[in-house]
Amino acid sequence: MRRLAVIPGDGIGPEVIGEGLRVLDWFRREQGIEFELWQLDLGAERYLRDGTTFPAAVRDEIASSCAAVLLGALGDARVPGFEHARDILFGMRMGFDLYANVRPVRALADSLVPLRGRSARDVDFVVFRENTEGIYAGIGGQLRRGSADEIAINEDINTRKGVERIIRAAFEYARRTGRTRVLMSDKSNAMRYAHELWQRVFQELRGDYPGIEARHLYIDALCLELVRDPSQFQVIVTNNLFGDIVTDLGAALQGGMGVAASVSSNPDHPERVKLFEPVHGSAPNLVGRGTANPVATLLCIGLLFEEFGFVGAAQELEVAIRATFEARETTPDLGGSLSTRAVTDAVLARLARPAPA
Ligand code: IPM
Ligand code: MN
Repeated sequence: MRRLAVIPGDGIGPEVIGEGLRVLDWFRREQGIEFELWQLDLGAERYLRDGTTFPAAVRDEIASSCAAVLLGALGDARVPGFEHARDILFGMRMGFDLYANVRPVRALADSLVPLRGRSARDVDFVVFRENTEGIYAGIGGQLRRGSADEIAINEDINTRKGVERIIRAAFEYARRTGRTRVLMSDKSNAMRYAHELWQRVFQELRGDYPGIEARHLYIDALCLELVRDPSQFQVIVTNNLFGDIVTDLGAALQGGMGVAASVSSNPDHPERVKLFEPVHGSAPNLVGRGTANPVATLLCIGLLFEEFGFVGAAQELEVAIRATFEARETTPDLGGSLSTRAVTDAVLARLARPAPA
């Protein structure tokens, strides 16, 4: 049976993951979609308790026995250096070489789109964020720390292999899903070495995809265009850091951090474990209030279904979520007054009694 490692993590992580598991359980009971759950006690609590971050044995067992990981959120004020989170999160993204972090930016209701005169139709693209290198590689150092002459360096790592495979993954995705536009974004006007590589590889690869329009925008211009007219974009491919930033902007376009989901995978090794995470963080200010938005996690469950071939289930779940948006059955971040649990209840109720098509 497919094994799903579950890492609720920090902050609101456990609250939203709990809701995701209720939905997963509904599909198990009603449709026989089986995942064997493996609950992992990893996160700030565990780190503070016994110093454990991401043991090699756990990493290896995930790699060898799990089809997927569902991660809630990481980040806790009691671990200001973020050590545990880096070990766990980057331990999976980089350790399993899950180089494609795919973040769909799709508004599921007109009311969620914050731009004047725009509707859900206008916000429907997918960001391919490089997930294993760039500034996140963690290469760097500090010199003369704490002095007036101190130096702090983080190196931006861009390998030919890394750049090529993420750009190719974006084109392949476009071709597979019938999309006709791929945009690569970098900052090659300022980063003349690293991002000249991105330019060159993009120009090379576009020739392999004749039916697909290949466009380039510098990252600053992309931010502007995303707000001015998001409907021009279908697939965006960019580096790790820009992908991080632009998907927060994307989250705002689709209704906020409460509704943004992501999956990290290695398209060259589809058999390898895949990592599903809501894009939002641990949101310490919301902890324990019962008002965190579970929808990002529910959409992760949808992505999980899609990845494992349960396309019908993914669609049903999305239809149910859309219906709750239409009915304004939402948590306060989206203007509603429902609790985390009540939103899931609303989704479950609609799953049980689908609206007539
Ligand atoms: C994200 C998050 C992480 C990132 C943080 C928590 C390190 O912001 O998944 O977008 O920057 O990748
Ligand atoms: Mn982020």
